[in-house]
Formats: sequence, structure tokens, C-alpha cells
Amino acid sequence: MKKPLSWLSGLLIFLVFACSEKPDTQETSSSEFDEPFRPQFHFSPPSNWMNDPNGMVYWEGEYHLFYQYHPDGNTWGPMHWGHAISEDLVHWEHQPIALFPDEHGTIFSGSAVADIKNTSGLGTEENPPLVAIFTYHDAEGEKAGRDDFQTQGIAFSTDKGRTWTKYEGNPVLTSPGIKDFRDPKVAWIDGQWIMSLAVKDRISFYSSPNLLDWTHESDFAPEWAAYGGVWECPDLFPLKTPDGEEKWILFVSINPGGPQGGSATQYFIGDFDGKKFTTETKEVMWLDWGADNYAGVTWSNVPESDGRRLFIGWMSNWQYAEVVPTENWRSAMTIPRSLELFKDGEFYALASKPVKELNKLRSASKNISGSEADLTHELLELEFAVTGEDFRIEFQNEENERLILEKSGEYIVLDRGLSGITDFKADFANTQTAPVGNIQAKNLRLFIDRSSIEVFINDGELALTALIFPNSHYNKIQIQGLGNGKVHHLKGIW
Ligand code: FRU
Repeated sequence: MKKPLSWLSGLLIFLVFACSEKPDTQETSSSEFDEPFRPQFHFSPPSNWMNDPNGMVYWEGEYHLFYQYHPDGNTWGPMHWGHAISEDLVHWEHQPIALFPDEHGTIFSGSAVADIKNTSGLGTEENPPLVAIFTYHDAEGEKAGRDDFQTQGIAFSTDKGRTWTKYEGNPVLTSPGIKDFRDPKVAWIDGQWIMSLAVKDRISFYSSPNLLDWTHESDFAPEWAAYGGVWECPDLFPLKTPDGEEKWILFVSINPGGPQGGSATQYFIGDFDGKKFTTETKEVMWLDWGADNYAGVTWSNVPESDGRRLFIGWMSNWQYAEVVPTENWRSAMTIPRSLELFKDGEFYALASKPVKELNKLRSASKNISGSEADLTHELLELEFAVTGEDFRIEFQNEENERLILEKSGEYIVLDRGLSGITDFKADFANTQTAPVGNIQAKNLRLFIDRSSIEVFINDGELALTALIFPNSHYNKIQIQGLGNGKVHHLKGIW
């Protein structure tokens, strides 16, 4: 009797596993997430409008991603914090809305921290709270012509981020009469909390022992920085150089005034002494040279044993974000990236590397040699060795639409003028140009989803992220000036 039963249960277990495993060639799963242009391996909201990533924190084996969310429409509106959780930065589980507007206003961008010592008293030392710090935007106050309608509030969770309670004493920081007073990014630095806050055309730093009481410490606004638009979404964090020297990085997103027009993120490298940031950077540096990587910041509380500084950005641009040709949902995040310092000539610069967890999306892989290849799949990662001075790749589809990536002399150029649907906004059909500077291009890595391309030269020493809306997926490439390549078919995450 024993034998046949265990044989049968063995077969059953095998069948259950075989059926629950995604076949390797399957690129999409849930039909809900299968609309035209719906990203298949990038994070996007279940429906309606999303902008900035918010409150990214790692806690007890889970990466939390909150985001600016308008649940009642597919354009920007009264902001909430949407929420998703991942164990691997690649597959996401949508969660209920975490933060709703209240009597102080709607919920703009901000950050979240693990208050491990329970400095706020909002949890216990045995069960420390996660604390979200965000901007309240009081639209009524704005309409009434006030100049103090943006304030900072906090909320906490003691159940692994599943439910959130607003702090009774909100707001915890009010504006000194400056309209743009927002996007707090908080970190535990040398025994105190430091908040970096975007204040119109500068970054203000505040300190606190407990996340509740804040003291202004200093402002940062070098004369030569990019000021084409209002400063938003700062982030301050340390990184080690390859020689082990510690540097501090400050991100400042600006809109407009980016290198391709509209939104972009500039960064500074320097030192933070606990009160004040000073920079050794001498010219404007852009984190990503493409048109579509904005308001990105990094995860807090990533374990030291991991050691990475993990980043995600909003893959859009305020120039056209509200009119891109999608209906049920609008916007996606970039692929997650790990940030690293590298020597760029005399100075340091930041590389953005696709996180290694993305490798698990690869299904079939094929070599590419010669000057032409057919692409049978729509979700792709491509890798090439750069052998010559210049190169050119042209993606083509059955509709005669074309996307062209070139290195021509001193520049990397991405031309999406004929890449697909572009007529929803005049600014969209552009040619995006990035100076190569001191970088010797040795390899090229591309990620192509249903409505985006992400370009990484030399493991992210130069990154360029752009939206595209081809009417059918590119099924052919023509290649010049590149050595052997590889194409990986990627699986969808939904
Ligand atoms: C950046 C931003 C932030 C603000 C949020 C509002 O894209 O303008 O400064 O907090 O979006 O949704």
C-alpha cells in the first residue's frame, strides 16, 4: 500500500510545480497587465496615475515602494501614496493605498525610515516603527494665495508597513513662507536624523533627535548648479570610492531645465559634516541623460551585508507625462539600479548599474553576430562589445518605425523621432544627446520593454532612459561598429 501512494503523491507534487512554474518563453501573464504599452518587467500601478517613487525602505526581507498616486484618474490629481512590496526588487505585489489626504492636505513626495531605536516613541524597542515623512500640500491654502501651504507630516507602521497611522501632532515642520517646501528625504546620520528638503532653489538640511522636532542646519545652492526649474526630490547618502574613501552624494531633481528639456536629476559629490553639505563637483552632473528618469531616490535601511545603494526613478517627464498614449494607467518606474562611484578623468562620477536580480528574468539567450538580426521577442536585454570608435543600432518594426542609437564622435545620440507614436506632444519626438566625456565606451547594455528603452554604457557609467511607443514591437536590428552581442529574452513580472 505504501508504494503506490507515495508514487501518486510524487506525481501530484510534480504536476502542481510544473503548472505553477512560468514557461520560459512566456513574456506576460496576467491579462489585466497586458494592455498595449503596459510595461512587462517595470513597475507600474494597477490603474490610474503614478508619479514619483516615495518612501523606499527595506525592512525584514521586503523592499517597500510607495509612489505618488491619483487613484481617481489617469492624470495628476489629489495625491495619495500607493504601495507595493517586493522580495527581490523585480517582482512586485500591489498593496492597498498607504496614505490618504487628510485635513492638512494631500500627500506629496517623501521618504520612509526604520526607526530602529524607537527615537520617535511611535513603536517599541522590540517592535520598532517604520516612519514615513512626507509633504502635506494644502490645495485650499494655495488657492487662497498663502505661501505656507506645504508642510511636512509623518505616519508610522508597526505591522511591517501593511497599515499606516498618521501622527497626531502633524505637521512636524511648517514653511517659513516659501511656497515650494517639499519632498523630505530622511536618513540616520551620525546619531541624528537628517532631513534634506527641496526649498524652491536650494536644499535645506534639518536635524532631529526623534523625527518629531526639527532644527534648520544649513542650505545648499552653489551658483553654478542647474536652476532651469524648481528644485525637487533631494537625496543625501554616502558611497565609497573604489579605494574605500567615503564621499557624500546629493541628488536634486529639477523641472524643467533637464538636458533633454523638462525633468532630470542632477547630482553633486562632496562631503557632509552632520550639518552642512559641501561639494567638490565643478560642473552640472546628470544622473541619467535620457528624457525619462525623474524624481528618483534611493532605498533606506538596505543591510550592510548587501552594501548596495539602490535606486529607482519615475520613468517619465513632466513635459508630456499626462498625455502619453496609455489609458488605464499612466507611468512606470525605471528598472532598479545600483549606484557606484567611478573615476571619470580627474573627478569621480556616478554609475547606475541595472541590479543583478534582473538576470533572473532572462529566458532564452542567443548570440548576435553580423550586421543584422531578427528579434522574435518584445521584452529584451541586449549586450554588445563596443569595438570601434563609433557605432549605430537601428531598431525596426513592420510599421517602418525606427529607433536609432548611435555613438558619433563625442556623443551618444538616441533618436526617437520615428520610433512610433510621438504626436501626443511636440516635445516628445526628440533626439537625445549625451556627451561621452572621458568615458571610453567598451560595452553596451540595453533593456527594451513595451514602451521604454534603457541604455547603459560601460555598466552604467553613462545611462540614458527613454519612453517609446512603437505600434508593434521592433523585430529587426541593424548594427554597425559593434562586436559580438547577445540577446536575452526576458520574462514578464506580472
Ligand atoms: C516631483 C513632484 C514633487 C512633489 C510631487 C507631487 O515630480 O513635483 O516635488 O512632491 O511631484 O506629486
